[in-house]
Amino acid sequence: MSPVQATAPGKIILFGEHAVVYSRPAIAAPVGNVSAKATLQPLESGHPFRVVASDLGQDYTLSEAAPDNPLAYTVHSALAYFGYTAPPAATLQVTSTIPLGRGLGSGAAISTAIVRVLGQFLDRSLSAAEISALVYEVEKLYHGTPSGIDNTVIAFNQPVYFIKKQPIQRMMVRQPLTLVIADTGIVAPTHQVVGDLRQRWQANPTRYEQYFDEIQDIVEQARHIIEGGGDEGGIILGQLMNHNQQILEEMGISSPELAQLVTAARRAGALGAKLSGAGWGGNMIALTTPDEAQNIAAALQAAGSKGIIVTKVKAADQD
Ligand code: PMV
Repeated sequence: MSPVQATAPGKIILFGEHAVVYSRPAIAAPVGNVSAKATLQPLESGHPFRVVASDLGQDYTLSEAAPDNPLAYTVHSALAYFGYTAPPAATLQVTSTIPLGRGLGSGAAISTAIVRVLGQFLDRSLSAAEISALVYEVEKLYHGTPSGIDNTVIAFNQPVYFIKKQPIQRMMVRQPLTLVIADTGIVAPTHQVVGDLRQRWQANPTRYEQYFDEIQDIVEQARHIIEGGGDEGGIILGQLMNHNQQILEEMGISSPELAQLVTAARRAGALGAKLSGAGWGGNMIALTTPDEAQNIAAALQAAGSKGIIVTKVKAADQD
């Protein structure tokens, strides 16, 4: 019996993180340079369902996994969705090149790959919306109150303009965007950053609602440019990124390490730069022309980045 395999990409948030939790829009795109992979190896009947995720230090039979183990929870949820009460005899192997806990959607990508591989194995075709909904339930384990942007962009594998609890709006990217993604190397659990911000929002709702409105305005302008193109598009988009970063800094979402990388990218000639994802650590992104990408990557490396990805958000008509 031959194994079945499925993958899912990483993701970046281009604009609007955190405000998206408060029902403002955000823009995110998949990052195909990194991915999670799930492989299901069928076994002779009678064997238990085993989960092996060496990168996460996990190896167990499904029946002995803790109920809040995200991998096991994903398997149980998908099987229940398919109407199975008992798991098949198989070994599920999960690997990922997406750094964990750095805002690149590793959790959602792993869950998406698992749901996809189980669907293939059990001969059930699933729409992206069904996969996204299943993964959203798992995201709640990681994040508490996730907006749903990670599961959406990863399951649909498309740039999205996203508003919580609303149907997905795919973005028609006019001009490809070249981005350098740089890792502070610091793991900051999303639920902590989101929880901390929630407390500050509760203490001063007027101020934080104002920040969220400003971010919403940036997201709307960015959408217009990303979908409309124009000669000065990259320059304006870069400025919007810088403005978004400034508000995130005022909101207490950045960190010295993120700020250092953002400054290094701008000094090296990036069109704009900001943190991406939950903040306090994780990754930042810099928008650049294709020609400058390597210079900016080198500057970020010199400024202490622990990992660099140069990626492109492709135009809608590109493969
Ligand atoms: O999963 P991360 O680290 O990319 O963060 C998600 C973005 C937040 O807006 C901070 C949270 C959310 O649920 O949208």
